[in-house]
Amino acid sequence: MITDFGLDYSAEPPVPADGISTVQRRSAALEELIHRDPGRFRVLTGDRPTGRLHLGHYFGTLHNRVRLQDLGVEMLVIIADYQVLTDRDVADHLTEHVEDLVLDYLAVGVDPERATIFTHSAIPALNQLLLPFLSLITVAELSRNPTVKEEIAQSQQSSVSGLMFTYPAHQAADILFCKANLVPVGQDQLPHLEVTRTIARRFNNRYGNGVAVFPEPDALLSAAPLLLGTDGTKMSKSRGNAITLAASADETAKLIRGAKTDAHRHITYEPATRPEVSSLVLLASLCLGSDPHQVAEDIGGRGASALKETVTEAVNTFLAPIRDRRALYAQDRGHIRKVLRDGNEHATAIAQTTLDEVRATMNALY
Ligand code: TRP
Repeated sequence: MITDFGLDYSAEPPVPADGISTVQRRSAALEELIHRDPGRFRVLTGDRPTGRLHLGHYFGTLHNRVRLQDLGVEMLVIIADYQVLTDRDVADHLTEHVEDLVLDYLAVGVDPERATIFTHSAIPALNQLLLPFLSLITVAELSRNPTVKEEIAQSQQSSVSGLMFTYPAHQAADILFCKANLVPVGQDQLPHLEVTRTIARRFNNRYGNGVAVFPEPDALLSAAPLLLGTDGTKMSKSRGNAITLAASADETAKLIRGAKTDAHRHITYEPATRPEVSSLVLLASLCLGSDPHQVAEDIGGRGASALKETVTEAVNTFLAPIRDRRALYAQDRGHIRKVLRDGNEHATAIAQTTLDEVRATMNALY
């Protein structure tokens, strides 16, 4: 059984002495299994609809989804519209953000014939799982979640809503409603996956009577490259320092022209000591499919302006077909709506089957 390794990520030191974490080791083993037998995996992944996706998303997760899809892994992609309700600005533009996400997915090659794209709010049976799930996790466990703590600190809200506090349990419902056994995530989502595994395990123990109703899904940790925004801080839509997939070639050139570099003319790739320059080099190398050291060497003494030209050219060439596809799909709103309608219909059928099974297991079928 692929899910039977009994790993408790929260109990592991993040990085052991040899520098490779247990999750990374496990992810490497899973990659081998995926290549050998993609049919045994069901992937659930998704995003919050907070705006257009950028290159950090692309190289962090989007390209990995398309890769898994193309390997033949079954995939569901959730647009987590209930997860963003605490953010007023976002909630006021929900439809627009949801449609932007669909467009970004289609543009990068997520294929609705093979992948199910759906929204939280349209799947009542998924949301109903939250109630029994909340009974299986303690307030203390929810309070310990480092990612939620961080988000609460960042949001600078004077009080924390119940939704914010409990969303990792809701995310467990996102993952378990379809019995996904594989969740491609970045490091920040690992605590949530641990909540999901805990809830699955406890549900099975408490109600399953020896039958595992839910799998304990594995994280597939992708080696996301650390791309900084053009101002040298974390790339993020709200900081105006991110190159979105949808941006025009001119907007992209302008952002890169204004990017932060440093005082040394000779271009090198040294992420630890020259983060801004190295991030630009890395971005070019990802778009060119080449080694960052080589990219840096090719520019050498020609300095920051040559580096920026290289990056602009590489990014715009790389994104051109994605942008063309996006523009094409954007003209057909009917198609976007249909992708969502079909996805929601499929997800609803899966969720209903799971909820029926959950209620039967709990002796709550009346
Ligand atoms: N919390 C995730 C994020 O902020 C989005 C998300 C919601 C998600 N539900 C999920 C990711 C289920 C993976 C699985 O990006």
